[in-house]
Amino acid sequence: MTWKEVFTSSVGKKLVMSFTGIFLILFLIVHVGLNACIWANDNGTMFNAGAHFMGNNVVPRILEIGLFAGLILHIIQGLMLELSNRSKRGTVGYAVSYSKGSKWYSRSMGLLGTIILLFLCLHLYNFWLPNRANQGFLLGEEINLYAKMQEVFSNLLVVIIYVLGCLSLGYHLAHGFQSAFRTIGVHNKRYNAIFTTLGYGFAVIVPLVFALMPLSFYFGWIN
Ligand code: HEM
Repeated sequence: MTWKEVFTSSVGKKLVMSFTGIFLILFLIVHVGLNACIWANDNGTMFNAGAHFMGNNVVPRILEIGLFAGLILHIIQGLMLELSNRSKRGTVGYAVSYSKGSKWYSRSMGLLGTIILLFLCLHLYNFWLPNRANQGFLLGEEINLYAKMQEVFSNLLVVIIYVLGCLSLGYHLAHGFQSAFRTIGVHNKRYNAIFTTLGYGFAVIVPLVFALMPLSFYFGWIN
C-alpha cells in the first residue's frame, strides 16, 4: 500500500482511524487517571501538581502536538469515511435489513463523533485555551485548573452538556475500541472475547469516571 492509498483507499482510511483511535484511547487513560486526583479531597493540590507537570514539561508538551494531530486526522478521516459510506449507499441509510445485524451505535459513529467534537470545542474553550493563553502558549505559569473546574462546573447547563458528551463517548468507544483492534488484525476467536470484554469495560468505566467529575463538583461531593 502506498502512502497515498493510506489516506485515500477505504482500507487505508480504516487503518488511520484505528491507529489514531488507539492513540486517543491511550490519551484518555492518562487524562482520566490524572483528573481522578481531584478526589484526593486536598483542595486540588495533587491534581494541580500533576497538571503542572503535564503543562510545564517539554515532553508532554511535544506529545500534545501529536495528540492534536492525531485528533484532527481521526476527525477528518472519520468524516470522509462517513461521507463515502453514505454516497455508496446512495441514500442516508440502508433499507430495513442492514440495521438488523448491527447495533445502532456502530451505525452512528459519525453522529456520535460529531457530538463529541462539539463537546470538545466547549471543553478546550473551558480549560485548555485559558490555560495555554496564560502560559503565552509556551512553557510558563498555568492557571489554577482545580479552581477553574469549580467555576466551570457550577453551571448546571455545562454539567449536563459534559455528561451528554461522556455518554456519546461511551457509545463511540463501545464500537470503536473493538473495531480498532479488529482492523489492525487482532482478530481470532480467543482474542475477540478478550477485546469485546475489554472494549465494553473501557467504554463504560472511562466515560463514567469522566462524567462523575462535573457531577462531583456540582453536587459538592469533593472539597
Ligand atoms: C468530563 C470530565 C473532564 C474534565 C473535568 C476534564 C478536564 C480537563 C482539563 C482541566 C484540561 C486542561 C489541561 C491543560 O490545559 O493542561 C483538559 C484538557 C483536555 N481534555 Fe479534558 N476533561 C474531561 C473530559 C475529557 C474528555 C471526555 C475528552 C475527550 C473526549 C477530553 C479531552 C481533552 C483534550 C483533548 C484536552 C487538551 C489536552 C492537552 O492539554 O494537551 N477531556 N481536560
